[in-house]
Amino acid sequence: MQFQDKIVLITGANRGIGKALVKACLAKEVKKVYATSRNIGNLPSFDDPRVVSIQLDVADKDQIKAAAQKCQDTQILINNAGTLNPGSVFLGEVDGFRKDMEVNFFSVIEMMRAFAPVLSDNEEPRIVNIASIASYVNFPFIAGYSASKAALYSISQAARIELSAKNIPVHIVNPGAIDTDMNKGSTMQMTPPDEVAKNIIEMVEREIEDIVPDRIGKDMFATWQKSPRDLEELAGKIYFGE
Ligand SMILES: NC(=O)c1ccc[n+]([C@@H]2O[C@H](COP(=O)([O-])OP(=O)(O)OC[C@H]3O[C@@H](n4cnc5c(N)ncnc54)[C@H](OP(=O)(O)O)[C@@H]3O)[C@@H](O)[C@H]2O)c1
Repeated sequence: MQFQDKIVLITGANRGIGKALVKACLAKEVKKVYATSRNIGNLPSFDDPRVVSIQLDVADKDQIKAAAQKCQDTQILINNAGTLNPGSVFLGEVDGFRKDMEVNFFSVIEMMRAFAPVLSDNEEPRIVNIASIASYVNFPFIAGYSASKAALYSISQAARIELSAKNIPVHIVNPGAIDTDMNKGSTMQMTPPDEVAKNIIEMVEREIEDIVPDRIGKDMFATWQKSPRDLEELAGKIYFGE
C-alpha cells in the first residue's frame, strides 16, 4: 500500500499529531489532503495547493454529514481528533470523562458510519483510528480518557471485522507519549509528533493493522505482551509518583 497519489482526510489537523500527519502525507506525495479542524481559522498554512481546509467538529453530527458529502473522493480516513480531561476515578470530573467519551469514542463511530459508504466507492480505501497505549492499560490519573481509548480500541476491532467484507482495512494506532499540547507541562521524554506521524504512515504502508509508533509506547506494549498485570503495576507506580 502506498500513500502516493491517495486522497486523505485527517481530523484535528490544526495541531499536534494531526498537523504532523498532514505534513507527512504531503511528503509521501499524496494527491490531496482534507485538513479538517473544528475551527478552520486555526489551521496552519501548509503552503501547498494539495491541502483543502474543511470545517469539522467531530462532536457535531451535521458537520460530519456535511464533510462526508463534500469529501466524496476520500480514500484514507484518519480519525485523529481527541481530547484529554485528566482525573482519577474518584477525584476527576465525571463531565470531563463524558466529554472524552463523546469525542474519542462516539464521534469516531459517527465518522466511520458517515465515511464507510464514501470509502467503499473509492479505490484502496482504509481507516486509521488514533487510539492510545491507554487502550491496553488504564492510567489512573487520566482514568476517563484511558477508558475512552479502550472503548475506541474495542469498537475499532469490531469495525475491522465488519468492514473486512467491504475490503476496508482498519488500522488502530496506539501511541505512548508524544510531545504535543496534550502532554503540556510533562517532564517525560517524549517523541516529537513529526517522527510519530512519519512512523504511522510508514507502518500503514506496510499494512500493519495494530500500530505502536513510538519508543515509550513500544516499551509499554512489550510489557503488556509479557504480562498485562506488569503494565498495570507500572501505571500504578506512575500514579503514586514512584
Ligand atoms: N500526545 C500523546 O502523547 C498521545 C498519545 C496517545 C494518543 N494520542 C492521541 O493522538 C490524537 C492527537 O492528539 P495530540 O497529541 O496531537 O493532541 P493535541 O495537540 O491536544 O491535539 C488534539 C487535536 O484534536 C482536536 N479536537 C479536539 N476536539 C475536537 C472536536 N470536537 N472536533 C475536531 N477536532 C477536535 C484539537 O482541535 P482544537 O485545536 O480545536 O482543540 C486538536 O487539533 C488524539 O486522539 C490523542 O488522544 C496522543
